[in-house]
Amino acid sequence: MNIITVKDYQEMSARAGELLIEKVNTDRKTVLGLATGSNPEGMYAYLAKKYNEGNVSFSDVQTFNLDEYVGLDEENPNSYKYYMKHHLFNHIDLPVQNAHLPNGTAADLAGECNAYEKKIEEVGKIDLQVLGIGLNGHIGFNEPGTSFQSRTHIVELDASTRQANARFFESMDEVPTQALTMGIASIMSSKEILLLISGEGKAETLAKLLEGSISEDFPASILHEHPNVTVIADEAAYAKVKNKQS
Ligand code: GLP
Repeated sequence: MNIITVKDYQEMSARAGELLIEKVNTDRKTVLGLATGSNPEGMYAYLAKKYNEGNVSFSDVQTFNLDEYVGLDEENPNSYKYYMKHHLFNHIDLPVQNAHLPNGTAADLAGECNAYEKKIEEVGKIDLQVLGIGLNGHIGFNEPGTSFQSRTHIVELDASTRQANARFFESMDEVPTQALTMGIASIMSSKEILLLISGEGKAETLAKLLEGSISEDFPASILHEHPNVTVIADEAAYAKVKNKQS
């Protein structure tokens, strides 16, 4: 794993944005894997700004998001489709048909998962997958205990994940209990992975990721087995790592 430490959230966002822009400017047909949550938000704002300044175009890019809540349609402000439109898609020239997310309102959810996995296969591999990480080490919505062999599937959300995400909903009852997510094996099939982590709240999570063992109890630990992973961490998130790289 290549670890880049930066001062703060803003620097993390700019650094990550530059990495994506470089990819897209090298290959206009780049396939990007995208994530939601607070960690990539600043990066999306950075990409929108650079697009407006004429530094990058997404007109031939394809994007695949990691996950979506079951039961929330794209008009629901808490759906990940809404999040993506609000933070990125509405502000750049990515063609609507090139932006893919699993559909959490599909009548046949299992069929939707298979179709999503097929769609990724059809465009080839994801060139660069952006990841955030949950407090319990989840990536996408792959909760602890998820098989490292998993592909896109339906998940029951952990109580702790629902609690962590409840801040966006009016009440705990409104937080969905299920989601669709790319599996661990789907994520590991990407050619390159970029994990963003910031803030003191994630310091223990990062220390565990970098210094713990590889186990399905901590899904992100599998990233140690991927040949091309970059972690961009801010100082606050890096604070509890014992063997710091200089
Ligand atoms: C959510 C998402 C993940 C995200 C994680 C961390 O539940 N499904 O893809 O990485 O939680 O979110 P945040 O960046 O807001 O801490």
